[in-house]
Amino acid sequence: MSTLVIVGTQWGDEGKGKIVDLIADRVRAVVRFQGGNNAGHTLVVNGKKHIFHLIPSGILHENITCMIGNGVVIDPQVLLQEIERLRKEGVEVSPDRLKISRHAHVIMPYHKALDLAREEKKGKKKIGTTGRGIGPCYEDKAARVGIRIHDLLKEESFALRLEPVLAEKNFILQNFYNHPPLSFDKVFEEYVTYGKSLAAYVEDVSRLLEDMISRGDNVVFEGAQGTFLDIDHGTYPYVTSSNTLAGNVCCGVGLGPGSIHNVVGVVKAYTTRVGGGPFPTELHGELGEKIRDSGGEYGSTTGRPRRCGWLDITMLKKAKRLNGLNALVITKLDVLSGLPEVKIAVGYKVNGRAISDVPCELDLFEKCEPVYEVLPGWQEDIRQIRAFDSLPANTKRYLKTIEDMLGVPIWIVSVGPGRDETIVMRDIF
Ligand code: IMP
Repeated sequence: MSTLVIVGTQWGDEGKGKIVDLIADRVRAVVRFQGGNNAGHTLVVNGKKHIFHLIPSGILHENITCMIGNGVVIDPQVLLQEIERLRKEGVEVSPDRLKISRHAHVIMPYHKALDLAREEKKGKKKIGTTGRGIGPCYEDKAARVGIRIHDLLKEESFALRLEPVLAEKNFILQNFYNHPPLSFDKVFEEYVTYGKSLAAYVEDVSRLLEDMISRGDNVVFEGAQGTFLDIDHGTYPYVTSSNTLAGNVCCGVGLGPGSIHNVVGVVKAYTTRVGGGPFPTELHGELGEKIRDSGGEYGSTTGRPRRCGWLDITMLKKAKRLNGLNALVITKLDVLSGLPEVKIAVGYKVNGRAISDVPCELDLFEKCEPVYEVLPGWQEDIRQIRAFDSLPANTKRYLKTIEDMLGVPIWIVSVGPGRDETIVMRDIF
């Protein structure tokens, strides 16, 4: 190998973090390239479970350098809290082990206030954002009024950038959302302090990566959210505010497309979604609740119950195309044990008309009714199984159906949350 991108193929929460853990001994760096602390992954530190939102998976492995690329939006308060939490648990997050791009944009207090105020005003039509200020921060990036990490390090120019943008945000907050204004002095002082605490971590991530890759080091780019939350190709407007697809690695860290060697799509054995938006295979009754309970499907960032449904091959085919997948990881297969039958959506129907691709128009996707292929379920507990050949025949059939329908080989199957609860089907490196 050399470089590998890990992306979610559905609506996020596919279990991407575990993969980094599994291959950690062969990896030199783990890099985030988009999103912010709307993401969440669980790390176990000294037997205690912690959820981290910004620090890349891999921080617990001493040989790994973690990097946050320019495409990520950073809430410095959250990042410093995560560093502190790890330090208290005995994990030293030194500037040698964590590198932050100087060009990453900073989530400011007005971004969070606007995110929340806007959702509240939307009422029933709300997107269900995580309320972390992600969207408003990316808006300011595009509007060229954003504050970047390196701005926090130069007090004079930071003040000059902050003043006009805060005046505009305060006007909107007060007059449109009936929200109290934010104090310039308070925001300025707080963020200058964050800048001082983060200064030692600030680096040119693009250059560091170029050096590593030219030395032949293995680098993992860790996607956050999932394919159908991509701002361009997802179920707009029910999406996040960044490009979540593998191609965005290049812009999000500062490398050319030739630096991407493998793209791995993580597929949950069923589908989940948090927040609003269409979801053709959603299960509304008892079965949906059963899957939610056995899969522990509650948001790691907001704690919200996730919507659950059957696997959707049509979506996965689109995810293959959009990301250029060359390997799959199937997660949470054990959650489907004990069901009399399992269904895979292989297409849709709208008013009797067959549709074979995920439509770009949201109103059409909302009307799509899934056409299912029904397979027999398996009753056995599969968590102890470590080889494909030892799986029940119906479980093997489910996996083979996915592989054949997508034409992408399965690399890893996860049959439980533990590190060892894993079946490696082949070596892709
Ligand atoms: P935002 O990214 O906080 O603006 O939220 C936009 C939409 O993306 C909402 O539906 C969120 O629930 C969803 N979302 C954001 N981050 C994640 C994630 O890491 N996993 C799953 N859904 C997410």
